[in-house]
Amino acid sequence: MPAADPHAAPLAQYIDDHFDEFIATLVGLARIPSISAEPAPAPAVQASAHAVKDAMIAAGLERCEVLELPGAHPYAYGEWLRAPGRPTLLLYAHHDVQPPGRSDHWRTPPFEPTRVGERLYGRGVVDDKAGIVTHLAAIQAWLGTRGQLPVNVKLIVEGEEESGSDHLEEFLHAHREKLAADVIVLTDTANLEAGLPSLTYRLRGLVNVFVEVRGLDHPLHSGMWGGPLPDPVQAMAKILATLSDDAGVPAIPGLLDDVRAPSKVERAALARLPYDDDQFRADSGLLPSCTLVGEREFSIYERLWVRPAITVIALEASPIQGSSNQLVPSARARVSCRIVPDMDPAQVGALICAHLARVAPWGVEVTTRVESASPGWICVPEGPAFEAAARALTRGFGRETALIGAGGSIPFVGPFAAAFGGAPALLVGLEDPICNAHSENESLNLDDWKKSMKGAAYLYAELADYRKA
Ligand code: BES
Ligand code: MN
Ligand code: MN
Repeated sequence: MPAADPHAAPLAQYIDDHFDEFIATLVGLARIPSISAEPAPAPAVQASAHAVKDAMIAAGLERCEVLELPGAHPYAYGEWLRAPGRPTLLLYAHHDVQPPGRSDHWRTPPFEPTRVGERLYGRGVVDDKAGIVTHLAAIQAWLGTRGQLPVNVKLIVEGEEESGSDHLEEFLHAHREKLAADVIVLTDTANLEAGLPSLTYRLRGLVNVFVEVRGLDHPLHSGMWGGPLPDPVQAMAKILATLSDDAGVPAIPGLLDDVRAPSKVERAALARLPYDDDQFRADSGLLPSCTLVGEREFSIYERLWVRPAITVIALEASPIQGSSNQLVPSARARVSCRIVPDMDPAQVGALICAHLARVAPWGVEVTTRVESASPGWICVPEGPAFEAAARALTRGFGRETALIGAGGSIPFVGPFAAAFGGAPALLVGLEDPICNAHSENESLNLDDWKKSMKGAAYLYAELADYRKA
């Protein structure tokens, strides 16, 4: 949209005038504890899908409905297809959320969204219910100012993103025609820093492996038996300790073999992004005594976005409380590996399982199971759609748009972009470094949210003449 574009000022004004209403919509959605880790059908996720559908209707979308598949958490869908001859955008967000975690660590209740200064606190506010309302606000602003949109839109809001999008292939198969689009727009990623609009051109994938170590068939008095008998918990500790080397670099043999090397051009571009070591440490909450780890020949952004990472996300043997002098018979862990393009999820899963079994000491029994495996995603962020998005965001934020990678995963992107003939996928979002997504005290930067609504509204005008190259 050129600087003099007649739509921009009324859209911005509309969003300014209705911002409190958009906050109220978000608060309403974020009151619903739509935790998709609960098995489907989960009443709260169902209620959430219906609340999203109602918000779609209120924003002016048409043919709004809740889409269900057996065993899956529901999607909400709405469309506005009254711009014949214009491109169609598939807009995406997700309405499910992570569990709240440790309730005593929340300063405000997780499901009572609370404004503190210029941030709104609550589970799901930034990941990803603000993303839903960003789309709704952009649509409503166009309908409210012009009575129409310059493009066609189909808004799909997923209900099982946070639990790994287990029914994605089935869903795509069932609704491929209905959802077909020229461009995909997702509001579920991050801004590199507050106030800096960012377009994400790559995501990591995720492989989760469950591992159990068993050495005894029941607990034993540690005085009567300790010494000659192997301790299954230490066996687990030794196994997990082999996942990385002393520098904290992933050490599973073969794991790094298929990693696609970043091009010179990409490395140079990443090196130009703003980075401040002290800020990075402070934002992460890393304790002062700790060092950063990983592959020294790669920058921090490269370690986060273009290299794999291994994390132990759960570990259990015996709780401290109620523990006694016993050998504990077994231990369990969940090993989580972020993977990058060219790494094959199934192969990575197999590699991790084989490694865990191979390094186990003392003949303990090791059971492994790949629980989920989804690939990374990358695109070349060039061409008319990306240029349109960069212009729209830059205007919305009043700052040049950054092209960034992401360490997180969104299973939806790859399969849908591929299904629509390699349609460009434009990934934007509001997760800034201090937003605490997935953790306690998750929060949304309200100032950036308003800017991103304007960016989303401007994008429609920027894409009105989009044609597949
Ligand atoms: N919104 C995140 C993904 C994300 C975060 C992308 C930050 C870019 C920047 C999404 O909700 C998420 O958490 N995804 C899961 C996916 C998993 C369950 C397959 C993740 O990354 O853990
Ligand atoms: Mn998300
Ligand atoms: Mn998430």
